[in-house]
Amino acid sequence: MTQQIRGRNVVVVGTQWGDEGKGKVVDWLTDHAQGVARFQGGHNAGHTLVIKGKKTALQLIPSGIMRDGVPCYIGNGVVVDPTHLLSEIERLEAAGLEVRSRLFISESCPLILPFHVEVDKAREALRETSGAGKIGTTGKGIGPAYEDKVARRALRVQDLKHPERFEKKLRELLELHNFALAGYLKSQPLEFQPIFDHAMKVAEQLKPMMADVGYMIHKAGREGANILFEGAQGTLLDIDHGTYPYVTSSNCVAGNAAAGSGVGPDQLHYILGITKAYTTRVGSGPFPTELPIDEPGTIGHHLSTVGQERGTVTGRARRCGWLDAAALKRSIIINGITGLCITKLDVLDGLEEIKVCVGYELNGQRIDILPLDADDIVACQPVYETFPGWKETTFGVTSWDALPANARSYLECVQRFIGTPIAMVSTGPDRDHTILLRHPYQA
Ligand code: GDP
Ligand code: IMO
Ligand code: MG
Repeated sequence: MTQQIRGRNVVVVGTQWGDEGKGKVVDWLTDHAQGVARFQGGHNAGHTLVIKGKKTALQLIPSGIMRDGVPCYIGNGVVVDPTHLLSEIERLEAAGLEVRSRLFISESCPLILPFHVEVDKAREALRETSGAGKIGTTGKGIGPAYEDKVARRALRVQDLKHPERFEKKLRELLELHNFALAGYLKSQPLEFQPIFDHAMKVAEQLKPMMADVGYMIHKAGREGANILFEGAQGTLLDIDHGTYPYVTSSNCVAGNAAAGSGVGPDQLHYILGITKAYTTRVGSGPFPTELPIDEPGTIGHHLSTVGQERGTVTGRARRCGWLDAAALKRSIIINGITGLCITKLDVLDGLEEIKVCVGYELNGQRIDILPLDADDIVACQPVYETFPGWKETTFGVTSWDALPANARSYLECVQRFIGTPIAMVSTGPDRDHTILLRHPYQA
């Protein structure tokens, strides 16, 4: 008999290159949580939830917001574009949700301001013309904002409460970025006054939601709350552990749930890795199991169209390929994954056979885990194991026993190969399209 434990915290992280279905799973798990926290990234994330057929796309606000009364926290590790945040709040309010009374924004979050967006875009343009090759960023100013944080010159959410301090810091920071924009990036410098005036206007609305998030989560935990930490992006996009330089600018791994929200690492009790039953990637960078997606009748085209693999934030087509279990192995180690949720199993329905990459050939040698150097990853030839597919539909299936035998044996083989239990399987975009094997919030 399973028993629910109180004061237990679950971290949800992507184990691939993002878009694994983290938002759907966080929304599902919020049923057992009394608080949901984002701890890194910004509005480069696009988390899509479908509840009784109704779709909602979230970027900065935790996916727990869809459950009435659940407090949602934006931790200090998140970079906040105040204008975007306000528009996301307003969009949810227009859909009838109560947001402001239960959204808490850490005062320590670095701000994304208009010049970060300009620098991000101008730098991508320069990389393209110089032949360095674009990273393929989302163009939301994420990288430049994190650079300012690390350089100890960022404007933070707390500065919005102090107009004089904000003005002084903004003048200095804008001067620096304008120098780079005009001189090096061959772009237009920005004016101080419109940025300042707009920030002060938005500040009035955000002030009531500013909070000491780490302490709030700590107190909630002492009172028995289960907290859910919602990762953005994915392990292979992590600034340290991903396919550098084709990565985002934050640590996306589970360990950062503590530093990025202001709680101790002893508060991370269960790490749930979200893994798509195949692989996708948006933006540039190496991708060993990638398949061409444009030709009708091919596997890549099937994954792209049946999986509706188009980015939520930028609308770009996602690159697609087979599941890379050798890359997954590295993600499991780095995150300390307790259990996995395999998503989008239904997208594999109808395929004759299904391949899984279980290692690579690199310079004549067989290796069984994703290498660290991006050039080595480019040179990797995937080694596949092939499984028979299934004709039946798995769409919306909610029990393990109702899955086709071949689907079960595919999942069991993946589980055996990576040596980590599968806790959940997702068979469709809706909240209810979920198979539970071991509940992360139950003993
Ligand atoms: P996230 O960034 O990790 O939250 O993932 P995204 O929301 O960007 O991308 C996942 C997409 O797949 C969304 O459109 C989801 O609605 C959808 N989705 C999630 N789980 C499933 C599933 O099991 N099957 C299908 N067909 N779609 C799913
Ligand atoms: P979610 O949370 C997929 C990718 C971009 C680009 C790289 C750097 O929805 O899984 P950035 O704008 O962060 O500097 O871009 O990271 N990227 C994502 N890819 N899902 C995401 O978020 C992503 N967030 C950033 O496409 O390759
Ligand atoms: Mg996404």
